[in-house]
Amino acid sequence: MDFYEVINKRRSIRAYKKDPVEDDKLSRILNAARLAPSAANKQPFFLIVVKDEKTKQKLKDAYSQEWFFTAPVIICACALPDKAWKRNDGKTYVDVDVTIAMDHLILAASAEGLGTCWIAAFKPEVVREVLNIPDNMEPLILTPLGYPETIPEPTFRKPLDEMVREIT
Ligand SMILES: Cc1cc2nc3c(=O)[nH]c(=O)nc-3n(C[C@H](O)[C@H](O)[C@H](O)COP(=O)(O)O)c2cc1C
Repeated sequence: MDFYEVINKRRSIRAYKKDPVEDDKLSRILNAARLAPSAANKQPFFLIVVKDEKTKQKLKDAYSQEWFFTAPVIICACALPDKAWKRNDGKTYVDVDVTIAMDHLILAASAEGLGTCWIAAFKPEVVREVLNIPDNMEPLILTPLGYPETIPEPTFRKPLDEMVREIT
């Protein structure tokens, strides 16, 4: 699939088929995250891939939307704040680094015909406990991963002239 086609076709998918995700597809998707750029190449992220049904059930205490659990795979992207590059004024770019890796993963999933949905509205302390995440990692974003049951229409985007200022 052409790169722009991938971007145009990606949607937040909130209904999944039960069909499993093939191992080779999952490997390519995870590798896309691995190849993401990061500030000073510190790569301050870690991915947890959940396929186990019992673990998925326990995550319902962290995020209660039923549709989320229809996907065969759940991925948790974690930040490693201690490993991240910081600017001279102390600003950390760890969230930017994790987000770029996650966007690579999500677009790769789309290119493979798979659906995802960025999820931030979860209880991080529950995710930490259920997935046994150590103190030096912060669970930042979740996504389900699986074949879409339904593909929604595109959502609204501001026109370019509202978000771009050119200085010529
Ligand atoms: C950082 C981030 C956090 C999000 N968190 C949630 C969430 O907690 N629950 C949810 O249903 N969607 C969540 N979304 C999905 C957005 O609602 C969605 O991307 C947006 O409405 C645009 O729709 P689209 O992804 O289909 O283009 C999140 C998206 C981003 C980028």
